Amino acid sequence: MAKIVGGVATTHVPSIGKAIAENKQKDPYWSPFFRGFDYVHYWLAREKPDVAVVFYNDHGLNFFLDKMPTFAVGAAAEYRNEDEGWGIPVSRALKGDSALSWHVINRLVADEFDITMCQEMLVDHALTIPMMLMWPAQKCPVRIVPIAINTVQHPLPSLARCLKLGQSVGRAIQAYPEDLRVVVVGTGGLSHQLDGKRAGFINKEFDKFCMDKLIGEPDVLARYSIHDWVEESGAQGVEFLNWMAMRGALNVHVAEVHRNYHVPISNTAAATVVLENRPDPQIRAA
Ligand code: DHB
Ligand code: FE
Repeated sequence: MAKIVGGVATTHVPSIGKAIAENKQKDPYWSPFFRGFDYVHYWLAREKPDVAVVFYNDHGLNFFLDKMPTFAVGAAAEYRNEDEGWGIPVSRALKGDSALSWHVINRLVADEFDITMCQEMLVDHALTIPMMLMWPAQKCPVRIVPIAINTVQHPLPSLARCLKLGQSVGRAIQAYPEDLRVVVVGTGGLSHQLDGKRAGFINKEFDKFCMDKLIGEPDVLARYSIHDWVEESGAQGVEFLNWMAMRGALNVHVAEVHRNYHVPISNTAAATVVLENRPDPQIRAA
């Protein structure tokens, strides 16, 4: 059976891609962020996942405002990036695991999630940058199952709904008959706002609260409305929906084995977290 080895959440700011292309990882501006990946590399080398199931949001590369699915699951054999206009190089193509994708799609629909299934899907910086951060080698050693959550065009799905989406994906992975090792990834956040009157907004206290609650009390976060979340975390802080879905896919009991938080990278409070599953007590029927 497939096994979830844990979850990784990380920021996906486009300029990270440019810093990688220009080898700036050790520059004073960048090193506090990139150093946060030393542990992630150690952890991935130890856990050796075969597949990454990645919750992320598309910023207009594959979906635009005219057609915006709330939840879209990729079922392609390969995923390409294209020029997104951020001045970052077009990233390597990534291999898909279409058999696992279809299994997840079937389970999600059976669980009453009305998702969009995509047999072709371009993936943007929100997916490619976390993949480059986690696996910097030229050839990415894992296959991916991308799951896009709308964080761009209101109305957005609620935090509670994304937690449930993640729970359904987690059950699907654990019911997959192949002996795969799976890491679940959530990208984006933490607090940031790119435009409008509050451009540059960051809320360190709220970011810490989110990372703390995500470990053992994600339900507390799930009670926030999207509008309250924007108030606390900025208009783009809603990318935390991807973190909620990642958390939902893990066990009720998890341990945070790594956290890095650094302000700012570009306009964003940059954070990287690794969560490991811990055994959940069996709940027996009476
Ligand atoms: C930035 C952050 C994002 O999440 C994004 O998608 C694009 C830009 C930034 O901080 O510049
Ligand atoms: Fe973003």
